[in-house]
Amino acid sequence: MSALFQPFTLKDITLRNRIAVPPMCQYSAVDGRVNDWHQLNYGGMARGGAGLVIVEATAVAPEGRISPDCAGIWNDDLAQAFIPTVRAIKQHGAVPGIQIAHAGRKANANRPWDGDDHIAEDDPRYWQTIAPSAIAFGNNLPREPREMTLEDIARVRDDFVAAARRAHEVGFEWLELHFAHGYLAQSFFSEHSNQRTDAYGGNYENRSRFIRETFAAVREVWPAHLPLTIRFGVLEFDGNDEQTLSDSIDLTRRLKDAGLDMISVSIGFNTPEAQIPWAPAFMGPIAERVRREADIPVSSAWGFGEPHIAEKAVRDGQLDLVMVGKAHLANPHWAYQAARELKVDQASWTLPAPYAHWLARY
Ligand SMILES: Cc1cc2nc3c(=O)[nH]c(=O)nc-3n(C[C@H](O)[C@H](O)[C@H](O)COP(=O)(O)O)c2cc1C
Repeated sequence: MSALFQPFTLKDITLRNRIAVPPMCQYSAVDGRVNDWHQLNYGGMARGGAGLVIVEATAVAPEGRISPDCAGIWNDDLAQAFIPTVRAIKQHGAVPGIQIAHAGRKANANRPWDGDDHIAEDDPRYWQTIAPSAIAFGNNLPREPREMTLEDIARVRDDFVAAARRAHEVGFEWLELHFAHGYLAQSFFSEHSNQRTDAYGGNYENRSRFIRETFAAVREVWPAHLPLTIRFGVLEFDGNDEQTLSDSIDLTRRLKDAGLDMISVSIGFNTPEAQIPWAPAFMGPIAERVRREADIPVSSAWGFGEPHIAEKAVRDGQLDLVMVGKAHLANPHWAYQAARELKVDQASWTLPAPYAHWLARY
């Protein structure tokens, strides 16, 4: 019996299997507004059989977009634009999730295929970025952000809260706060990017304050019966990993006490100097450690896009949910194909009749 195709229940939500589409930016919104592309993209992956589809990093404020083409949810009109996407995901039996985000010092970049670098200051699409400290990421993102005031910090926290409320109003049933990948929240946590001397910088307690406060504020408005999750970079691969990991696990425990339901275990990406040991499923043992030591359900991504690897991660107790990213871009029916490869019988997954009727014979 396949472990990957067992249902998974978190709060009042049951996923039909352990396969999740992680958030993947489409860089296809106009002024933050999602459109037909998003409906087709996410609806297609739901139709293909994934249990959970998490919509891409969606900015809680205009200056929090990674690129000018990224999705936003900073007002009700932008939120309403998600309704066809939510409907398409649900119609095909998956649970609609969304990742809400603020890109901090990594915002205002060109799309990956247009260079992935900061937009020039004389470009009409330029805006000023903000971050815990006025320290540039470096490499292709050389621009120095403006150091946030205490008012900025409170405002962005409130933006997360308003975004969460809107996400619920338009039908999302699973919320992921983007506290990873060197974006704003993660950059508060890291000494690479946070050199503040006030209550939001310095020791671990202070560097985790923005995350703890933002999480607690969102918890108050996100319904208690629906999953509230975070994506968090638990280490950097910068040579200081034991300390960062142990702080991260402590933080995860504290967030769990404050109502966190699950963590998507990821990488910090706060420094271009990181030496990341890329390999299939390399985050599996790290996720397993977080799962065991923080005693919380976990998911992870990065190289689980081969059915037997994904199956093994769940079977071995490393992951509760497997995030399959790029393999879903290549094949939105990845879950269906995985079921065939793992010899899962048809009752465990659903493909709509116009496909299933023929593919069962194929
Ligand atoms: C096109 C693209 C866009 C991405 N956008 C996001 C994002 O919005 N938020 C996020 O947390 N990770 C993002 N990621 C990272 C993925 O969620 C995932 O972690 C990564 O692709 C590794 O998983 P994989 O090996 O299965 O592809 C993105 C990755 C890709 C390829």
